[in-house]
Formats: sequence, structure tokens, C-alpha cells
Amino acid sequence: MKVIHNVSDTQIYLRELRITSNKTIGFIPTMGALHDGHISLVEQSVKNNDITVVSVFVNPRQFNDKSDFENYPVNHQRDLDLLDKAGCNLVFLPSADDIYKNFVGFNMDFNGLDKIYEGEFRPGHFQGVVDIVYRLFEIVNPHKAYFGQKDFQQLAIIKLMTKLANFDIEIVSCPIVREKSGLAMSSRNLRLSQEQFKNAANIYKLLIVIANKLKVGDDTDKHCQYFIDEIEKISDMKAEYCVFCNPESLVSVKKINKNSEIIMCVAVWCGKIRLIDNIILVF
Ligand code: PAJ
Repeated sequence: MKVIHNVSDTQIYLRELRITSNKTIGFIPTMGALHDGHISLVEQSVKNNDITVVSVFVNPRQFNDKSDFENYPVNHQRDLDLLDKAGCNLVFLPSADDIYKNFVGFNMDFNGLDKIYEGEFRPGHFQGVVDIVYRLFEIVNPHKAYFGQKDFQQLAIIKLMTKLANFDIEIVSCPIVREKSGLAMSSRNLRLSQEQFKNAANIYKLLIVIANKLKVGDDTDKHCQYFIDEIEKISDMKAEYCVFCNPESLVSVKKINKNSEIIMCVAVWCGKIRLIDNIILVF
């Protein structure tokens, strides 16, 4: 496995593989602190492409909370070992100065998608995500790029950006990988205390309870209220939002209709750690 830090070296290396050697390239952007969720994306790419590229970069532009950025876990050696084992071919580990040098940004119309749900509570977050993913797509120029369904809104926004920017890249959506307890894997789980880690498993448990109760004709608001109330009963936990929406357009759904696909999405504070999760429901 090759590790490159420099932007232009990465471009030259990948251009040669893509154009001269005619290789297909799969790409997984990450912020490191890798877990089995990230690795599942890498394995998917290894199966489907000749070359798999992973970027590891904690992108300062997407953190609206300074302390979240400063405390973001970093462990490059561990990440490199895991990536090597998973069959990754190239790790791109840029510096902030190099990657954003001469970058003017991509001005896009989010059609309101950056202001709702996650966007409402994390102002500027999605512009920061679009900045880095656009820049990484320019540099890596992959055939396919892999994203987790866990970050449902990020996925929808990246699909929109790819279309608006005319990138010829297939965006592949991958299922959520969970701990044995059901808790969605996240780099931020590393910052949970043992008790918080145990309590946080209730997020997915409640999603399942609600999924089993839901029926056609139901008002979604009452199910959200149930989720919020149940979370509040757990020590040190507080729900930030709970929404039901269309998984593609993200338009909110107030009543469950027959033959519909809906995603129920939640954000929960566990002490000072903010966790998100979701579940796709088909009626
Ligand atoms: P990061 O949180 O490191 O996640 C990298 C990718 O892994 C994202 O596509 C995310 O959805 C996916 N992922 C995270 N947890 C997962 C899980 N439990 N199961 C499956 N996939 C999971 O998302 C980002 O980084 C950044 O915003 C990034 C896109 C890299 C831009 O900086």
C-alpha cells in the first residue's frame, strides 16, 4: 500500500493508473479514526475496482464546533494498518494548506438541503463537506466513490453536488455498520465513557421499537415525541431532533402512506458527544 501526502504527486500517480494503465478507481473519503463502518466501504470498493484510494483528512472547514475539531481522534498508524489489511492501494494524507491551496470553492445551490435537520444544528457544516469532497474528487477523479448511509443527509448532498458539478463519478451508498449492541459505529464513539457507550445503544433500540409499531396512516410526530421522551429518561442523554423524511429528496413526511419508503433520522447528545442514526422503513 502506497501513502502519499502531496496533492500533485497523488494526481500524477492516479492519472497514470487511470489513463495509461486503464485501471478503475474506487474512492473512500474519510476523516480517519477508522472503524469497521469505514472498512466496509473499503472492502466494497476493493471488490468492485482495480484500485482503491482512501483519503484521511480531518477537514477543519466542516466543524462548526471548535472543540469537536480539536478533540477529533487521530491515529494514523492504526488507520494505515487497518487499510493495508483491507486491501487499500493508496492512502492520501494531505495537509490543510496543500489541499486548499488555490481552491476557490464550489458555489452550489443546496436547494435548502443544507439548512434542515443536521444543517439547522451545524451551520456551515455541509458547505465544508462539499468543499472538501469537491476538492478530493478533482484530485482523485475516481470512477466510483463510496459513502455511508449513516450520514444520510451528507449522502444526499454529495449526490446533488456530483450532479451539479458534472463529475462523472458513481456515488455508491453503503449500509450502516453497527456495534453488537446496535449502536451505529462512529469515530466519536471513542470519546464516550463506558456508561455512555452502553446507554447510547438505546438510540437504535428505540428506532427498532418505533419501526415495529409504525403503520400506514400514522402521524409521524407522535412517534418522534415518543423517541424524544424515551431518550430524555436516560441519564445524560438528550434528543436534538427526530424526523421522518423521503430518503432521496429529504422532504419531511408527516403521515405514513402506503407503498412509501421513509427514513427516520435522529440526532442525540450523549453528554458532550453528538451521535446520529437512522433507519429506512418500507411500507
Ligand atoms: P467520516 O465520518 O470519517 O466517514 C467517512 C465515511 O464513512 C462516510 O461516508 C460515512 O458515512 C461512513 N461511515 C461512518 N460510519 C459508518 C458506519 N457505522 N457504517 C457505514 N459507514 C459509515 O463523513 C465524513 O468522514 C466526512 O464528512 C467526509 C465525507 C470524509 C468529508 O470530510
